[in-house]
Amino acid sequence: MDKLLIEGGATLSGDVTISGAKNAALPILAATLLATEVVVISNVPHLQDVTTMLSLLQMMGVQVTVDDRLTVEIDSSEISSHEAPYELVKTMRASILVLGPLLARFGEADVSLPGGCAIGARPVNLHVAGLQAMGASVVVEDGFIKARADRLHGAHIVFDLVTVTGTENLLMAAVLADGETILENAAREPEVSDLADFLTGMGAQIKGAGSGTIIVQGVKTLVGTEYRVLPDRIETGTYLVAAAMTGGRIKALQCAPETLEAVLVKLREAGALLEIGDDWIEIDMCGRRPQSVNIRTAPYPAFPTDMQAQFCALNAIAQGVGTVTETIFENRFQHVLEMQRMGADILIDGNTAICTGVDELLAAPVMATDLRASAGLVLAGLAAKGETLVDRIYHIDRGYERIEEKLSQLGASIRRVV
Ligand code: UD1
Repeated sequence: MDKLLIEGGATLSGDVTISGAKNAALPILAATLLATEVVVISNVPHLQDVTTMLSLLQMMGVQVTVDDRLTVEIDSSEISSHEAPYELVKTMRASILVLGPLLARFGEADVSLPGGCAIGARPVNLHVAGLQAMGASVVVEDGFIKARADRLHGAHIVFDLVTVTGTENLLMAAVLADGETILENAAREPEVSDLADFLTGMGAQIKGAGSGTIIVQGVKTLVGTEYRVLPDRIETGTYLVAAAMTGGRIKALQCAPETLEAVLVKLREAGALLEIGDDWIEIDMCGRRPQSVNIRTAPYPAFPTDMQAQFCALNAIAQGVGTVTETIFENRFQHVLEMQRMGADILIDGNTAICTGVDELLAAPVMATDLRASAGLVLAGLAAKGETLVDRIYHIDRGYERIEEKLSQLGASIRRVV
């Protein structure tokens, strides 16, 4: 099993090019199931989760051609199966994103239940309830969600809580439904807007994406289009934190600064100097140690839960005491236990981690437990004294493209070992 070996202590400097957003690419790839013609998607990040989604589409009989490393041509005009099997769904919960499109276009979808997850229960009840409100009959049988509908109809849906993939699933279902669908308390994440822009490119009629109320007028068919995936705001934020923790100066290129406001505010509070262009962000820590910051995760535009572990790492070595409160997922502090093994002074009190910055973290073998937790551990390793070995990095490969290459280019001493 691959591991990352990091010799801490390097001050990061240089340019890093940001990849397409995983969390936009996945729903967009799922949404290609809605089109009767070929679609071409570019800036698709080369990640394990993307490979899983493409495999899932291929298993359904979709024709997938990878043109160059980052451009994918997809022909879903005909499919031979409407099933998402357990073998794939268990490796990636986001497989649930095929539920809405399959049902809307083909009238049937059998998607394996995702099951437990390292960061809490993560149910999909709101996805199912929304589809039922649109006229689907849904049963859970043999571990599968089995959904059927002749043609979905529009509905007025108010989400009990903000769910990103739930909003995306129902949005994808609504674009081919009969009549108007209103999604209230919808997720406002940039990846939802990116999906909506892609769907609009295929001929969907959508208003309000990016706000809490999305209104969709269903159409009969969707056609081919070309689309470029939004840059990854979490990858961007992770590299910026890496620079902040090592006292460095880096420039993130081909990113989308407007999607990172809450993170940039916290980096400024930590003492970073930021310069921001249309599609780049430069961070300069001028060799200083960061100040601790208080973080509270919440749906966009508030601070993203996917940046929480990285800021735990920052607080672990910062000046002062900072709190990190997680309000989206239960059980999302496994990285803290590993950071404690590196000498971090972090106490967990319910859903809050109280971090007292230490002068120095000490390298140790640590274990990645989920995608973003692993990113936090890599950052801790970059700042620690000595050699940190991060095990189970298949979690990182799910969401970070060539992380060791990009960090090496910034001057980090990091390599993949088997
Ligand atoms: C998405 C992101 C993930 C991010 C998360 C929160 C993708 C592929 N993944 O995950 O990286 O961490 O948003 O920003 O985009 N919930 C229910 N019932 C449901 C659905 C959700 O109770 O039917 C709860 C969840 O347990 C969680 C909260 O709602 O507590 C938010 O989850 P949700 O936004 O759905 O997360 P994902 O879409 O799975």
